[in-house]
Amino acid sequence: MKKFYVTTPIYYVNDVPHLGHAYTTIAADVLARYKRLKGYEVFFLTGTDEHGQKIEKSAKAKGMTPKELADSVVVNFKRLWERFDISYDHFIRTTDDYHEKVVQEIFQRLYDKGDIYLGEYEGWYCTPCESFWSKSQLVEEKHCPDCGRPVERLREKSYFFRLSAYQDKLLQFYEENPDFVLPEFRMNEVKAFVKQGLEDISISRTTFRWGVPVPFDDEHVIYVWFDALFNYISGVGYGIDDEKFKKFWPADVHIIGKDILRFHAIYWPAFLMAAGFELPKRVFAHGWWTVEGRKMSKSLRNVVDPNRLIDMYGADAVRYFLLREVPFGLDGDFSHKALIHRINGDLANDLGNLLYRVLTMTIKYAGGKVPAPTENRDTELEELAKKVLERVDEHLNRQAFNRALEAIWDLIRAANKYVDVKAPWALNKEDKKEELGNVLYNLLETLRLVGVMLYPFMPSKMGEMLAQLGCGSEPKEEDLNWGRIQVGAEVAKGKPLFPKVEEEKIVKEIEKEVAEVEKKEEAIPEISIEDFAKLNIIVAQVVEAERVPKTDKLLKLVVDTGTEKRTVVAGIGAHYKPEELVGKKVLYLSNLMPKKLRGIMSCGMILAASKGEELYLPVLPDDTPLGARLR
Ligand code: ME8
Ligand code: MG
Repeated sequence: MKKFYVTTPIYYVNDVPHLGHAYTTIAADVLARYKRLKGYEVFFLTGTDEHGQKIEKSAKAKGMTPKELADSVVVNFKRLWERFDISYDHFIRTTDDYHEKVVQEIFQRLYDKGDIYLGEYEGWYCTPCESFWSKSQLVEEKHCPDCGRPVERLREKSYFFRLSAYQDKLLQFYEENPDFVLPEFRMNEVKAFVKQGLEDISISRTTFRWGVPVPFDDEHVIYVWFDALFNYISGVGYGIDDEKFKKFWPADVHIIGKDILRFHAIYWPAFLMAAGFELPKRVFAHGWWTVEGRKMSKSLRNVVDPNRLIDMYGADAVRYFLLREVPFGLDGDFSHKALIHRINGDLANDLGNLLYRVLTMTIKYAGGKVPAPTENRDTELEELAKKVLERVDEHLNRQAFNRALEAIWDLIRAANKYVDVKAPWALNKEDKKEELGNVLYNLLETLRLVGVMLYPFMPSKMGEMLAQLGCGSEPKEEDLNWGRIQVGAEVAKGKPLFPKVEEEKIVKEIEKEVAEVEKKEEAIPEISIEDFAKLNIIVAQVVEAERVPKTDKLLKLVVDTGTEKRTVVAGIGAHYKPEELVGKKVLYLSNLMPKKLRGIMSCGMILAASKGEELYLPVLPDDTPLGARLR
């Protein structure tokens, strides 16, 4: 039996669904739909991650119980997936009973086996941040590297997973399965990380309650990632529906973002090895979207709110854009302008117009019916189509969505050119009936195949297109072959498949909105003289300067403040050479919280004026004394 099991991450419920979630889920949906089309039995799992401290806190802030919060957010996810035509087979919630049971059963199993043991977490603790730190992570030996407040020494009992015991097994597994992680450069990152050495990880907590209880120790709840990862097992029937589980496990591909690669490519296989499960065949870590050139901050999210995008452009155009614009695996920038270009260019012009022209000609020259081809028809489109079918399959088997789409567009462009070269209107005029019939047949059949290949990407629009071509709107495996169009079938011209979008108006509006967000985010508050007095800005002299290896922008400087020497990492390396700086007097903010940058503890900050890409160091008279304070 041909089976295919694909998953998305399960999303946290402390946030409403945003573009990033939509991206991953659409990608998984395209694979699920493609494999169904290829005759596979498919299981497509998505869902929500509902436990943990983060959810507990966020519920508290909203005056809800965590479960109430989860219930309300789940509705948003499900509604959005419906609007995007996401064809998931099951939606798992980690608060579902069957899931919690599986997590506990496996926790118990690993404990009995000795892969989970009770230990003591010893280290430094920052209470406001609720985070543990090791000595080397602390700033000046006693401060939290995140918030700068003093830490306290803490010992907390915790269950540990013996991750260290799996280092060699993991490395061997990666060697034997070089495609386990894609893209390839991510596989290399994972290997390098594991080679550095793995320490056992803490997998239970006692400081909050919102989680799955450790089955044999009420004081502990299971760490949210241990809980979450096992959704991939419980969600496909483990412990409930053995037959289903046996049929579909191991997963064929886990689609995730690069942010959670370590959990999926290191912890997850180690947990599975420990529990005696087969390992998933692939983890694909895709890249990160920015929005209109900026990080997708909370306030910028409205600009790319998926529901709004569907309202503006339609679900299928958004699905197409997300997978076409950026090679899967790389980071990309979402802009309305780029999206509109794809709609007006690829969809409306290349594809929509082709369909419209071919249908119009079929109606005009062939009575609106698919003409019968003859033996001696030309086969250039047929040959190309066959190659494209193969290319699409190869690319989708490696999750290279953009390449699959490029291949399909090669065929669309070839068909457009074919229309121009064959000039059916001229054939009609010259009464070359047979050739005219062949040309129209080739075009209609090419369009049909394009519709079938694009169906997983744009199910609704391609359903419409196939119907216009006189075919069923739900293609099957056999339809992925040349020659399936029904001779004599009636075509029906509908309204344009992809109406053109008015670029200028929308882009202007969005630009205005983005500018407002920027203004809000960068708004400069009024401060008191006391606020200003907190800044200890003094004159210091650069005494040493070198580049931070492997960076273009960072310089490691040592400055003399008159009383001491301080190391500071400054982001001015694109504008100044190290040797230009030695001897220079600079303005130095000395009481900024120290922070580790690229492994270097940076104390304070060199002040410079900047605008856009430009940067200027203030010039101080040569005789300005070191330590002189700016007030
Ligand atoms: O991490 N660009 O959930 P989460 C692209 N619950 N993709 C993005 C993105 C962006 N800017 N922002 C988010 C969790 N994503 C855990 C997962 S799995 C066992 C547990 C997508 O709600 C991307 O897929 O923070 C990323 O991995 C995921 O959302 C993180 O979702
Ligand atoms: Mg996240």
